[in-house]
Amino acid sequence: MPSETKRKITDTDNSACMDMTQHVLNWYDSHRRDLPWRMPPGQRADPYKVMLSEIMLQQTTVEAVKPYFQRFLALWPTLSDLAAASQDEVMKAWAGLGYYSRARNLHKAAQMIMTEYAGQFPDQEDELLKLPGIGSYSAAAITAIAFGRRAVVIDANIERIIARYAAIPETLPAAKSAIHAVLDNLTPNERAGDFAQALMDIGSRICTPPRKKAGQLSQPQCLICPLALGCQGRHADPSSWPRKPAKRKRARRRGEVLILISDDNHVALTRRPDQGLLGGMMLFPTTGWPDGSRRHVDYPVAANSLLWALLDMYQSTADQQRLNQSVHHIFSHFELELKVTVMTGVRRQLMQNALAQDLLAQVIWCPLTELAGEAMPSVMRKVVTLAEAHRGLLLS
Ligand code: ADE
Repeated sequence: MPSETKRKITDTDNSACMDMTQHVLNWYDSHRRDLPWRMPPGQRADPYKVMLSEIMLQQTTVEAVKPYFQRFLALWPTLSDLAAASQDEVMKAWAGLGYYSRARNLHKAAQMIMTEYAGQFPDQEDELLKLPGIGSYSAAAITAIAFGRRAVVIDANIERIIARYAAIPETLPAAKSAIHAVLDNLTPNERAGDFAQALMDIGSRICTPPRKKAGQLSQPQCLICPLALGCQGRHADPSSWPRKPAKRKRARRRGEVLILISDDNHVALTRRPDQGLLGGMMLFPTTGWPDGSRRHVDYPVAANSLLWALLDMYQSTADQQRLNQSVHHIFSHFELELKVTVMTGVRRQLMQNALAQDLLAQVIWCPLTELAGEAMPSVMRKVVTLAEAHRGLLLS
């Protein structure tokens, strides 16, 4: 929710909150991480760089983002450069970061700022929310970090810190409104961007999530935490916040994928539709990925896929091997097991099959020398690695 209106400090306002806020800002002044998208204290961050980093950092670690951030800036130093790039170039530069709809939305947002805002970056939370891919978190983060306006910035790290700080009893997502209220009270009118980034740093180094290290759960470092004085969770077991509902098991899915290599060193690829999982990315021909834990319902996989059309057409003439090892990949809501078939020496010119014309029209023949630069998701890179290991192929 937009929260740019200045918080009125009343007599009843909790001065302990302000002490806590000041502790956090003081801590930030001497302990902040030096990150490529951050400006030295006192300097305003470029909104383009803030948007770029914040979109990249959603669901991805700081270390993984750094080289992508640098590469994007080298390719497209300004918002207008990014807006002028083709979607394909942007997807290629994003490949490997995951959650590919973020790249498409980032690109569209850049174009929208150039066309609908005449290149003037919107500086209000409610305007930022109108941009594709900008949700409440990113809008608040950009408002606070790039424009120095007050906004309540809540990501998963901050959620954890505040749930512990106030020992919030509800489980997520019900706890969200209580977390927002506590953070709203702590957020300063000035330096809201520094405050948010301080909490991000505290979340990454001090108030850490429970992780298994040498068989033991790591503990948060409450002794050095600038929030410790006001923290209620530290008197119990801080790792037990935020309270979470019981976990549901991830669904298991299965599919088949085909590496089809022509006698003139091209490999068959196909582009996913823009909408949905891996939208706009390049994949090897594959079946659908139905739920394999309920075999009787929808496994084996549908026969009308591009993969089956290609196998059908080439298997009598080509050298073919189905690898005995599979590729395993975890998506946010399911686990995938992919069986890999490699076919080599096919003649591209033979691609005629009246029955499967629509499917075959989806094939994009990519020279093997250019495969590494294609916008392929991590799951397909795993397929490449497996095929290389088994067949001595050189694909990457
Ligand atoms: N995670 C998300 N945004 C971040 C930022 N600005 N600094 C550090 N970690 C982050």
